[in-house]
Amino acid sequence: MQTTVLHERLEAVEADALIVHLFAGMSRPGGSTGAIDRALGGLIGTLAERGDLKAGLGEVGVLFPTSGVAAPRVVVVGLGDVQRLDAEAVRRASAEALRRARELGAQRIATVAHGAGLGGLAPAEAARATVEGARLGLYRYGGDHGVEALWLVEADEARLEALRDGVRWGEATADGVELARELVNRPPNVATPTHLAEVAEGLARDHGFAITVGDRAWAEAQGMGAFLGVARGAGFEPRFIVLEHDPTRGKEPPLVLIGKGVTFDSGGVSIKGRDGMSAMKSDMAGAAAVLGAMRTLGRLRSPCRVVALVPATENMLDAHAYRPADVLTAANGVTIEIVSTDAEGRLLLADALVYAQRLRPKAVVDLATLTGACVVALGRGTAAGRFANDEELGGRIDAAAAATCERVWPLPLWPEYLDDLKSDVADLKNSSGKAHGGASVAAAFLQRFVDYPWVHLDIAGMALRDDAKGYQVKGATGFGVRLLVHWVTHG
Ligand code: BES
Ligand code: MN
Ligand code: ZN
Repeated sequence: MQTTVLHERLEAVEADALIVHLFAGMSRPGGSTGAIDRALGGLIGTLAERGDLKAGLGEVGVLFPTSGVAAPRVVVVGLGDVQRLDAEAVRRASAEALRRARELGAQRIATVAHGAGLGGLAPAEAARATVEGARLGLYRYGGDHGVEALWLVEADEARLEALRDGVRWGEATADGVELARELVNRPPNVATPTHLAEVAEGLARDHGFAITVGDRAWAEAQGMGAFLGVARGAGFEPRFIVLEHDPTRGKEPPLVLIGKGVTFDSGGVSIKGRDGMSAMKSDMAGAAAVLGAMRTLGRLRSPCRVVALVPATENMLDAHAYRPADVLTAANGVTIEIVSTDAEGRLLLADALVYAQRLRPKAVVDLATLTGACVVALGRGTAAGRFANDEELGGRIDAAAAATCERVWPLPLWPEYLDDLKSDVADLKNSSGKAHGGASVAAAFLQRFVDYPWVHLDIAGMALRDDAKGYQVKGATGFGVRLLVHWVTHG
């Protein structure tokens, strides 16, 4: 789907469908909706007055005019209460409207930038949110939106520049989220560690990133015994991906993004039950989010130095696989007694966190589908667990989460959580072997490998969903891309 800004009166656009909006409780629409309403002899206002269109957020009505406007279909989407309008409401409404237009068979769809008028959003923000909602709401696995063209229509020439800028941000953002969704949706025999590396190489070519792809021998030379321990039973070869966007040419300390890249988590020798194991193809959702964010930052030509680290392997079991009671040595020399081979994410992250240290980072954020305990604590699809060793950085991530509506919720990192990881044969154990406090215990384990401002996001409950709502669709969510991009670009 191509998105373009069109300088035109909406009523004159020869599209298969027009999309306009209505606020709840307002029967005299303004802006472009007002123009369409007048062209249709006041029909939209009448529907609102009669209560046929209540205009709750995301509610959709369709008109099939035979005269007055050039298009044969007019989709009216509710924006809800005008006082409560924000970018999130626009994304949701835009998605619902586009999906209805697609259901009606429309191929060329014209829309207004929702919220730029009475809604009080800046035109660029309205355009960005409209495009993000449209693209993400229409997303289907395989990348075909099922719609040929989206036209963002504006009659006022003075606004065109701002709208074009908003479209650029919206497209770049949707490109990143869609990449993350694709990678998570791909089957685990396709989205292998080498596949992730190829995708990263493609990004490096497209955006001029520097890239290093480490194999087993490379990781061995780096001393990454924890990462390699997990990879021992893997059939598909592991890869450690380092992708760098550096417009500052080494002048600034980097922001580092780390994504857990377990392309399939069987649990290893501590094997998971057979029910629901297939969901563990999503155990690389952190890696997918980080690669997606890099795509967006590359497309935006962000001025910040950013390094992405993706330790990628599957967690499988064969005669070479690591086992409970093994002791692994991480790249900083810390020894780890394996209690459960299913607590593998923290092992690859440990070596990535140590690698990050060598980059002298300004700040590091890791995203990982790390613990079922986090899902128990916060729910599925509700919020990611947010752990911070630095209150200011934690606050910035919270702000990015609020701005993008990619929710996070603070969870504690108290030192007591480490008490459960005391080992008789190594510096620490990889699991307490107990059920309680699991998300915090895992975060406390990670903190042992960190000496810089750091945030850990446990996204275990956020990677997949089983229904479509607003701009979310069934399957992979792409959670984290928008949050990361907002943090990097807005501080
Ligand atoms: N990838 C899982 C965590 C997970 C669970 C992600 C549910 C998404 C949905 C992780 O590797 C894991 O298996 N964690 C164990 C840790 C335990 C052995 C300490 C868990 O949560 O049970
Ligand atoms: Mn596991
Ligand atoms: Zn896992």
